[in-house]
Parts: sequence; structure tokens; C-alpha cells
Amino acid sequence: MLQNSSNNAASDGWIACLTYKSLATAAPSASDLQVLVRRARARNRQLGVTGMLIYEGGTFLQTLEGPTDKLNGLWSSIKKDTRHDHIEVLSEHIVPTRLFSDWDLMLHSRTDDAPAAKAKRQSPRAIKSHIENLTGLALNADDIRINTFIASLQDEGWTSDAIVLLLIEPTARALGDAWLADECSEFDLTIGLSMLQLAGHAVRHYKDANAIRNTQYKILLATAPGEQHILGTTMLADQFTDAGWRVDMAFPDTKEALANQLSAQHPDALDIGLSDAMPRTHVVPRLRATIDYTRLAVSDHPTVISVGGRLFAEAAATAGSVGADHARLTAAGASIRMAELVRQSRARRAMSEQP
Ligand SMILES: Cc1cc2nc3c(=O)[nH]c(=O)nc-3n(C[C@H](O)[C@H](O)[C@H](O)COP(=O)(O)O)c2cc1C
Repeated sequence: MLQNSSNNAASDGWIACLTYKSLATAAPSASDLQVLVRRARARNRQLGVTGMLIYEGGTFLQTLEGPTDKLNGLWSSIKKDTRHDHIEVLSEHIVPTRLFSDWDLMLHSRTDDAPAAKAKRQSPRAIKSHIENLTGLALNADDIRINTFIASLQDEGWTSDAIVLLLIEPTARALGDAWLADECSEFDLTIGLSMLQLAGHAVRHYKDANAIRNTQYKILLATAPGEQHILGTTMLADQFTDAGWRVDMAFPDTKEALANQLSAQHPDALDIGLSDAMPRTHVVPRLRATIDYTRLAVSDHPTVISVGGRLFAEAAATAGSVGADHARLTAAGASIRMAELVRQSRARRAMSEQP
């Protein structure tokens, strides 16, 4: 249940923001989804709720934002809805601004009607066993079996976003936990993460005619200065490239090196990735200093800054706590959320430049 941290929060226009994932009880057709979203939009508009719904491969990922009391009421309805189950809340916050202010409910979906993906619902038990399998293969550095395994899942109808969200990111966290529990060496962890990186790269990204494409946007995908684990950043590179973005990458050692690359390239957006395996809670002040520094470097060119990694996936830190505009909970669907943020930032700039 979301609660405003103070009474002032409501009066200052702060709103609640909830993100969850769930599994569809039966794979919806494109028209089922259209009906669901049409009704949802009408109700969301009445309630002053905005948000986004992604459906892929049997999995829903939804972000909802709005006044706390209205969102709590809606959330009670959604939780009872028998069209999905295994609902897992990924984050709930009180935030000062909306991410999807222009959308009663933005839909991005790839349903079983699409020829490219005959996605089946995945059972939670099967997902758990796949994660254990993949963790074992990654720790044994068995790249051939990893690639065969991922290819077989895609043949079964798993989509690239489902593989990233349900398998690769949880496996990275399992590898981090194995290292923290002294069950593997740092070397094993590093090798395991590179195996996942290769697997993520091998995931065939389907070119979907319905996908939102933004050929005009440019993003710099960077690891946080000094961050050794580059899994999330490389998975984003494939996804943003497929979505039509111009993509540059940076693996800087210092905040100065990152700022230099940023001011030379002037991208619309910057993503700074932390490890997907390790919690990295101690880096919050350093990341904040990096973001403050890079903002100064691009003060003449508005740049949307997002952050990601296990620290944010587990809501141990928020975008606000490091001075970013957005914290991604998963690499899946990130290009859609970033496109919306860039669009809003450009619209704000155009408004402010009007005489
Ligand atoms: C994945 C999923 C997301 C949904 N999102 C919304 C939404 O954003 N807004 C909405 O009004 N209903 C949404 N619904 C439908 C609600 O669960 C519910 O059917 C609807 O609000 C009617 O609620 P009621 O039966 O309590 O009146 C969603 C359903 C599912 C399965």
C-alpha cells in the first residue's frame, strides 16, 4: 500500500508511482489487449492515473502513476484481476513528477498474433529452474550450452525482453549472491557475467513492425566510472540499436572521462549502468557526484540521464538519490521509456524557447 510520506506531499503535487511484473494466466490476443487497454485508459483518465503497460511472451510489466488514494483503489482492482497472477511489485515510490504524463496508458506489446513470436506462458517453477540451469552453466563458463539453451527458449517462443527480464538479470543477481556467500571466486563471477553478456548478445531481437522506432534519437550507454561489470550496458546496446537509436558506448575510468565523451557527442540521453550482479550500495555518493559533474558538462544541451543495475532493480536507491532523471528496474523495454523521456524533455525545451 502506497502512502504519502507527509501531508505536504499531496499538496505539493507529489504522486505515487508503482511498477510491477506479472504473468498472464492465458496469452491474450492483440484484440484482448486492445480491449483491456481501452477500458483501462478510460478509467485511468477519470482517476488522473497515467502509465505504461508492456506485454511480451506471457509477461506483463506495468508502471502506474497518480494520486495515492486513486492508485491504491486501482491497484486493488488490478491485483484481483484473474487475467494475470504471480504479481511481483518491483518498486513503489512517491515522486515529484510523472514519467508518462501524456499517456492514460501507453501500450507496447508483442502478442502471440505476431508471426515472429509464438510466446507461451512460462510457469514460475520453469523460470526458477531455468535460472538455476543458467547460473550453473555461467559458473562453468559453458558458452556453447548457454547459447544452445537460449536459442532453444527462443524457438519455444520466449521473446528477447522476457529472456532479459526473467532470466539474464535474475541469473546475474544469483551469480552476485553466490560470490557474496563465498560459493564462487571473483574470477568465476567475472567469467560468469561475461558468459551472460555473450548470451544476451546472441539473443535474436525480432524486428517487429509495431515496435516504436526513434531514428532521430541518440544515446550514450556508459558504465559508471570504474564499474567492471558491463552486462546491462551491452544488453541495452542491442536493444537501443534494434529500436533505431544511434548508440555510442563508454567504459570510462573517471567522471572526467565520461564528461569529455558526453560533451564531444551531445547525445539526447545518457544511461549509466552499475553491476547487475552486485548491490553496490556504497557507490551512491560517487554516482551522485558523477551525475552532477556530467550535467555541468552538458548544461548547454539537455540530456536525459538514466541509471540502472542491481542497486536500482532492488530499489536500494532511486533516481532522485543519485540525481538522475530515471532509474530503470530492468533493461527490458528501456528504449521505450527513454524515448518517452527524451520526447518530454524536447517538448519542455521547445515550450521554454517560445517567445
Ligand atoms: C495487466 C493488467 C493491467 C491492467 N491495467 C489497468 C489500468 O491501468 N487501469 C485500469 O483501469 N484497469 C487496468 N486493468 C484492469 C483491471 O484489473 C480491472 O479489470 C478494471 O480496472 C475493472 O476493475 P473492477 O472490476 O474492480 O471495476 C488491468 C488488468 C491487467 C490484467
